[in-house]
Amino acid sequence: MMKQTILTTAIALASGLAIHTAAQAANDEPISPIKPPASINLGMVELGKKLYFDPRLSKSGIMSCNTCHNLSMGGTDNIPTSVGDKWQQGPINAPTVLNSSLNLAQFWDGRAADLKAQAGGPIANPGEMAFTHTLAINVLESIPAYVREFKLVFGKDKIDIDQVTLAIAEFEKTLVTPNSRFDQWLLGNKSALTKQEQEGYALFKDSGCVACHNGEAVGGNSFQKMGLVEPYKTTATAEGRAGVTGKDADRFNFKVPTLRNVEMTYPYFHDGAANTLTEAVDIMGRLQLGKKFTKDENAKIVAFLKTLTGDQPTFTLPILPPSADATPRPTPFK
Ligand code: HEC
Ligand code: HEC
Repeated sequence: MMKQTILTTAIALASGLAIHTAAQAANDEPISPIKPPASINLGMVELGKKLYFDPRLSKSGIMSCNTCHNLSMGGTDNIPTSVGDKWQQGPINAPTVLNSSLNLAQFWDGRAADLKAQAGGPIANPGEMAFTHTLAINVLESIPAYVREFKLVFGKDKIDIDQVTLAIAEFEKTLVTPNSRFDQWLLGNKSALTKQEQEGYALFKDSGCVACHNGEAVGGNSFQKMGLVEPYKTTATAEGRAGVTGKDADRFNFKVPTLRNVEMTYPYFHDGAANTLTEAVDIMGRLQLGKKFTKDENAKIVAFLKTLTGDQPTFTLPILPPSADATPRPTPFK
């Protein structure tokens, strides 16, 4: 069996064929359909879901992951930059959590390797949930139903931040959005897209958008310069990947955002400066490709982008275990 696979691979390589997934092989497109999550731990997902919605992981007691990554609104907050503890203005746009498990790294500059590494950040970020990991664990440890559930899932006597971030990351793995009209079309249902949408996809490919926006997430798999052909003007201070690598060549390189569900994740760009898809497509055309789209071309591309909206995660809203008498209380005004 193993030998067979290696042999097939060798032949494919030798004959210069790229190796595709089954779905890609069917139609040889630069974008592939979203697959359901591979293997997930259901107990961990249920716990992670509670933690994702639990505002008691914030100092104010009112801010949860869902505040800024609202799963009723495409996993974002739909404002230019997020509002943090005590109404602080955040420095950067909140990317969607939908399909974030497909990203090569997390954050606009990729400073977190994966979802688990990411999840501890916001709890302790003074500009976001403004808590500390110790205080968050104290809260969880004081709530008997949480103590029981953590023990059930992890089999340990003490709750720690590793378990918290693991559970949240496991829940986030379930936030994929398969079955968009575009994926139905990729999988062979040729009537899933209108003529205008198909023309939009052709423009998206032929103009070169797919050089950066490709793969399962239509992005999320590389860092690229914002303003490749023409510089991007912004008052935002984010320097992109250079902040992580320290290399000047990485200045203004950002993780290419996923375009899955992009109709829902406005406003656009790391500074949230583009309010509409029309605007974002116009800017991308000019700045990344040196191309000025006509009104008609722009409308076609936008129509295509809107076919990337997939099935949104649906589940029963988790009911959180109530605080106990000993649970430390939130301090929203301190
Ligand atoms: C106050 C708003 C806010 C809260 C609360 C918040 N986030 Fe975020 N989140 C952001 C912003 C803003 C970014 C982008 C930061 C950056 O790239 O520098 C982000 C980035 C992310 C990313 C990376 C996505 C990507 O494509 O790079 C993930 C995943 C994520 N947050 C999950 C969470 C989880 C889990 C929680 C709860 C523990 C949480 N967030 C709480 C605002 C928030
Ligand atoms: C050279 C790589 C590259 C090319 C080519 C490119 N993009 Fe992008 N795209 C990016 C990067 C990087 C960002 C994020 C930039 C930022 O936020 O500063 C982005 C952001 C976007 C966004 C906003 C997404 C969001 O959630 O904020 C849209 C929409 C978009 N691109 C569409 C397109 C279209 C349509 C084309 C073709 C006309 C295109 N892109 C070509 C790299 C590219």
